Amino acid sequence: GVKKIIITIDGYSSCGKSTLARQLAAQLNYLYIDSGAMYRAITLYFIQHRVEWNDHVQVKTALDSIHLEFVHNQISGYSDMFLNDENVEQLIREMLVAEKVSEVAAIRAVREFAVAQQQKMGAQKGIVMDGRDIGTVVFPHAELKIFMTADPAIRVERRFKELYAKNPNITLHEVKENLELRDYIDANREVSPLRRAEDAIILDNSQLNMQEQLDLVMQWVEDAIMAHSS
Ligand code: CDP
Ligand code: CDP
Repeated sequence: GVKKIIITIDGYSSCGKSTLARQLAAQLNYLYIDSGAMYRAITLYFIQHRVEWNDHVQVKTALDSIHLEFVHNQISGYSDMFLNDENVEQLIREMLVAEKVSEVAAIRAVREFAVAQQQKMGAQKGIVMDGRDIGTVVFPHAELKIFMTADPAIRVERRFKELYAKNPNITLHEVKENLELRDYIDANREVSPLRRAEDAIILDNSQLNMQEQLDLVMQWVEDAIMAHSS
């Protein structure tokens, strides 16, 4: 019969990973998991509780008191990130969190905490997950792996538009600096750096609109499902 597969989408910041992942999940009736939201929520907790994240003991203690959950939002149709039973979906998207998240996500204990939960979510297959290490570390045996890229200037422009709609005080320069810094830290950290898995298909969507990218990737999905069905 037709098998449910795991689809991983990794890549640099703001190239459209979550947009594509949502499109695919809707089309296939799969679960979509935004792994970045988990690192953002952990970072928010660390900021709120003034956790010294160079201190291993403080990090461990903090992680022990963090409960993360994705809760379906009837209005948006997407999942909201809940941190200890509080909806933090809006808060985790703010610059305050974006400025620190890559430092926190580089901590080994933080990654082990997040990856264990991500792997559980994928146990039933039928999942699309986006992030930085999904095809390399979280689901190394995924049936379809995508590595997304887009021209850096286009990525900055896309993310700026999003943030500006919510906060007109934001500057293009600030967004550019943040994306560059995060991409650098994410690609150069010791634990699970951002890498293209050898078997990941590269998708450069600089010149693709949303419909074009979806049409292209749905071909790959159909091929992957065919190849893994009997
Ligand atoms: O959407 P955006 O590109 O801004 O980033 P995100 O997916 O929300 O991820 C925020 C940050 O979390 C990234 O810059 C990484 O530092 C970290 N992250 C990670 O280390 N591993 C993942 N699987 C997902 C996110
Ligand atoms: O998840 P990631 O950080 O990789 O990016 P995203 O949040 O999915 O996309 C960043 C922005 O790019 C969103 O505002 C999308 O609407 C936009 N986008 C686009 O303009 N064209 C595409 N082909 C894909 C995404």
